[in-house]
Amino acid sequence: MNLETFIKSHAGTPIVLVQGLGFVGSVMSLVVANAINGNYAVIGVDRDTLAGRKTVDSLNAGVFPIVADDPKIAEFFEKSRQKGNFYATTDTAAYAVADIIIVDINLDVHKVSNEKYALSGYDVTLAPFISAIKTIGRHCKPDVLVLVETTVPPGTSKEVVAPTLKAALEERGLPSDKIRIGHSYERVMPGPQYVDSIQNFYRVYSGIDEKSADAVETFLKTIIRTDEYPLTRLGNTNATEMAKVLENSYRAMNIAFVVEWSRMAEEAGVDLYEVVHAIRQRPTHSNLMFPGIGVGGYCLTKDPLLASWSRTNLLGGKDKLKQSETAVSINDQMPRYAFEFLERRYPSAISSKSVLLLGVSYRGDVGDTRFSPVEPFYRCLLAADARLSAHDPYVNRWPETGISPHTNLSDALTVQPDIAVISTGHRMYQQEETTKALLSCSPMWIYDTIGLLSSTQIKKLQTKHTVIILGRGDL
Ligand SMILES: NC(=O)c1ccc[n+]([C@@H]2O[C@H](COP(=O)([O-])OP(=O)(O)OC[C@H]3O[C@@H](n4cnc5c(N)ncnc54)[C@H](O)[C@@H]3O)[C@@H](O)[C@H]2O)c1
Repeated sequence: MNLETFIKSHAGTPIVLVQGLGFVGSVMSLVVANAINGNYAVIGVDRDTLAGRKTVDSLNAGVFPIVADDPKIAEFFEKSRQKGNFYATTDTAAYAVADIIIVDINLDVHKVSNEKYALSGYDVTLAPFISAIKTIGRHCKPDVLVLVETTVPPGTSKEVVAPTLKAALEERGLPSDKIRIGHSYERVMPGPQYVDSIQNFYRVYSGIDEKSADAVETFLKTIIRTDEYPLTRLGNTNATEMAKVLENSYRAMNIAFVVEWSRMAEEAGVDLYEVVHAIRQRPTHSNLMFPGIGVGGYCLTKDPLLASWSRTNLLGGKDKLKQSETAVSINDQMPRYAFEFLERRYPSAISSKSVLLLGVSYRGDVGDTRFSPVEPFYRCLLAADARLSAHDPYVNRWPETGISPHTNLSDALTVQPDIAVISTGHRMYQQEETTKALLSCSPMWIYDTIGLLSSTQIKKLQTKHTVIILGRGDL
C-alpha cells in the first residue's frame, strides 16, 4: 500500500498524523489507532534518513521497532493491522491531509563535560525542532490542530511554534487565525506499562488560546481513559511546558540530593537502602530516592537544562536554574563514583580483570540505552584496562559503545568473570535462576550498584562470592 491508497481508503475518517516514530511516537500512534472513543486513520511520519526509513519499513511490515515488555503493544499493533488504520511514511505530503498533527520528535541538549564527567557547559539547539515545525507549516491545513508533545523549553509553543506555523501559512496565502496549537506532555514509560503509561494515565494539557485548549481536550478524551484519569487543563502553554520540565527536574534533584548521603552511609557503615525504606513508610517522604549507579535515559539527563536554558533564552529571566543544573552535574558524575567505589574496594588493580556488566540499558526491563549511566561506568573500566563483556536480556547491540551484549545469561557467564556488576535493575537478576547461575561460577566479586539484590540473595551469594553494594557500608 502507498500513502495515496491509504488516504483514499480512509476518506471521511479523521486523520491523525504523528510526527516522529521514536519511543514516544511509535506507541502513541498505536494508542490513537486504537482510540477508546473515536475512529482515526493514523499516519506516522519519520525523517527520510536511513534510520527513519528503517523504522517506517518495520512498522509497515508489522514489526514494532522497539523491544518492549508490554503484551499490549502486540495486541494494539495487531488490532490496527486488522483495521488497516495505521500507515507509516517518510513522505511529507502526508501533512497536507492531517486533521490533527501530534509532534513527538526529539529536542536535544548537547552537553560538555570535563574528564570527571562534571557538566562544564551545554547548548540547546532549537534549529531541527523549528525545521520540523516549518515542514508542518508548509503543508498543513489552515485549521489543523497541532499538538506538541515533545519536551520543549518553556515558552516554545508560544514563542516558536505559533509564530513559525502562522508565518508559514501566511506565506502560502492561507489564513493564520484558524490553526489550533496545544501542548500536552507525555509521561511515557517504555517497559511493561508502555501502553498504559499513555492510555491509563493522568494528562496535563493547554492551548495557545481557548479554542486550541478545547480542541486538545476533545481529542485527548477520545484516546485516554479520562473517566478514571481526569485531564488537567493549565492556563497556558508556558505552564504545561514548565510542568513537564519541573516534574523531571524535581526527580533529578531528588536523586542528586541522595548522592552525598550515599557517601556518608558508606563511611558510616550504614545501609542507606534500609534507611530510605524506613523513611519512605511516611507518606510525606514516600518518594525519597535510593542511591545508585546514576541517572540515565533521554529525559532526566536533559530536562533540567532545557528549563534553565529557557529561563534566560526564551522567558527574559536573568538567572539560570542553578540548583537544577548542579543536580544534572552531580548525577552525571555518579557512574564515575560507582567505578571509584569498586576500585577502592577491590583488593588488586582492575587492569586485565574480566568484568561482566549485568544490564546496560538505563532502566530495568527496558531496552533503551540512550544516556545509560552504564556507559560512563563502562568507559571508566575501559580506561582502567579491564576486560569487558556484558549481558542484557533486552539489548543485543549497544550502539553507544559498539559492543554486543549477550542476551542469554549462561552464555555471558562462560567468561568466568572476576567481577560481575549489577548495573541495571532488570527483574531477572532478582530471580532464583540468576542466583543459581552466579553460584555455578568460580568465586568472584559481585558488585551491586543499584541495591537490587535482596538480603536472602546476598546471603546465598556470599557463600561463594564476595558481594559489595554501592551506598552500603561493609556487609
Ligand atoms: N522516551 C521517553 O520515555 C519519553 C517520555 C516522555 C517524554 N519524552 C519526550 O518525547 C519526545 C520524543 O522522545 P523519544 O524518546 O520518542 O525520542 P526518539 O529520539 O526515540 O524519537 C524521536 C523520533 O523523531 C524523529 N524525528 C526527528 N525529527 C523529525 C522530523 N523533522 N520529522 C519526522 N520525524 C522526526 C526521529 O527520527 C526519531 O525517530 C522528547 O521530547 C522526549 O523528551 C520521552
